[in-house]
Amino acid sequence: MNDPSRSLERRRILLRLWKGLGLVAGVELLAIAAAFFSPRKSGQQAGSIVVAGPASDFALGSVTPFPQARFYLVRLADGGFLALSSRCTHLGCTVPWSDKERAFVCPCHSSAFDVRGEVLSPPASRPLELFAVAIERGLVLVDTSRRVERSRFEPDQVAHL
Ligand code: FES
Repeated sequence: MNDPSRSLERRRILLRLWKGLGLVAGVELLAIAAAFFSPRKSGQQAGSIVVAGPASDFALGSVTPFPQARFYLVRLADGGFLALSSRCTHLGCTVPWSDKERAFVCPCHSSAFDVRGEVLSPPASRPLELFAVAIERGLVLVDTSRRVERSRFEPDQVAHL
């Protein structure tokens, strides 16, 4: 036999349980949304001084990726250094370096940049941004705390030993 008061009590308990589970799911959803929209931390190097290594470790004409800090360290043929942001200046995709093409070619809309970060083909209209480079006691240091926008390559953007 069904006791109506026990049945009613069971319904109340189930209703509380469902409300509790709904609350937990809601809190988890908020936590996931907060984590998704909060700024990304790209490792311990981003937003700080990155010690790239001894200048002598970088061959003339080389492009070395620092994916955690989101830049490429370029050593030009004359021995100078540029730290190019890996963020495309069109819509912000990460731009890989192609050794074969000797260019940065964006996978999103095919913008291309030369080894100094200058635009080879649109839709990007600005060169890749820079991070400041300093060379101290033979070590290459890159300041990733601030991106430097530029309209074109200028020789004074290059850091020399
Ligand atoms: Fe790179 Fe559009 S984001 S070409």
